[in-house]
Amino acid sequence: MAFKLNCFISQSHKLPYLAFPSIGSPRSPKFYMASTLKSGSKEVQNLKKPFMPHQQVHVQVTHSVPAHKIEIFKSLEDWVGQNILVHLNPVEKCWQPQDFLPDPASDGFEEQVKELRERAKEIPDDCLVVLVGDMITEEALPTYQTMLNTLDGVRDETGASLTPWAIWTREWTAEENRHGDLLNKYLYLSGRVDMRQIEKTIQYLIGSGMDPQMENSPYHGFIYTSFQERATFISHGNTARLAKEHGDIKLAQICGTIASDEKRHETAYTKTVEKLFEIDPDETVMAFADMMRKKISMPAHLMYDGHDDNLFDHFSAVAQRLGVYTAKDYADILEFLVGRWKVDKLTGLSAEGQKAQDYVCRLPPRIRRLEERAQVRAKEAATIPFSWIFDRKVKL
Ligand SMILES: [Fe+2]
Ligand SMILES: [Fe+2]
Repeated sequence: MAFKLNCFISQSHKLPYLAFPSIGSPRSPKFYMASTLKSGSKEVQNLKKPFMPHQQVHVQVTHSVPAHKIEIFKSLEDWVGQNILVHLNPVEKCWQPQDFLPDPASDGFEEQVKELRERAKEIPDDCLVVLVGDMITEEALPTYQTMLNTLDGVRDETGASLTPWAIWTREWTAEENRHGDLLNKYLYLSGRVDMRQIEKTIQYLIGSGMDPQMENSPYHGFIYTSFQERATFISHGNTARLAKEHGDIKLAQICGTIASDEKRHETAYTKTVEKLFEIDPDETVMAFADMMRKKISMPAHLMYDGHDDNLFDHFSAVAQRLGVYTAKDYADILEFLVGRWKVDKLTGLSAEGQKAQDYVCRLPPRIRRLEERAQVRAKEAATIPFSWIFDRKVKL
């Protein structure tokens, strides 16, 4: 199957979420959003600003996996039914956001909200920024379900398809939906954040989509999701630790519970890729190397709040400084996946496959060296306002 090359102007920011510093991203012409609001309003002025100032031009490849390889995914359906769907929790056994929130139907509701707000007062602004960024990332879930359904051979062809791949995607989405819902309600009740600005950011983000360069390839797609689930497991886990340090045990419990969902999802996706390595090591290792060469861009890399043209970079910098998700984590995840899939032990690869194997196995120490050099070069951190917290300033 011939694959298509589309010239594409991406709105990518120059840094993947807390990935190691990217070098020399090309900048291209700006493009502007048309205003749909009445003139004279404050919002119109904002919309006249460039929507995304840092854009990369790259060639967008679509449908890169040939038809006979896609057949492999159809042949795996029974295996997915028996080995992957077991990592979903039945709805009746799942936690729900309401389990962690004041009950609006109870007499004690107001008192419970008061207690929640008292606890939330102790959370510093930089932690709030990270929490909001994580919540916004979760809230862009429609984009992630769309992404999974771009993947050839595994997409949900009808919206209610009974293939195990499609069931997985829908039920995974349904589980994920609780994450943004819970964090959103918590932050709303806390009274510490500018909900309207946050809601605008979510709307912008869902409208922008994402550009992880997966080429409609399920090989690329499941490598990406393996990486991402582990990344979210790490960042929610670290946010839980911070919440605990600042005395908000309930919030720590919320973030910890979400982290454990992410861990379960990571198990399912890494198991899927493990299977791909077993049946098609060449294609899988080349997809792994390809995704790593492109760098794993984080799901919310196109975020924008109508004010800050570098919002994602700024959010990432705060998360890096607080140790919620760092360049070291990026290298650690890669190293973990190389070990999990025993990439260094693969044998019988083609010459190209061996090159890819060599590349991914040598990459973690290279990333660490780059990170160390970047740290040495790091200048005095700036302090900037975040609209999410009423323009209070936070150190990057
Ligand atoms: Fe999530
Ligand atoms: Fe997840």
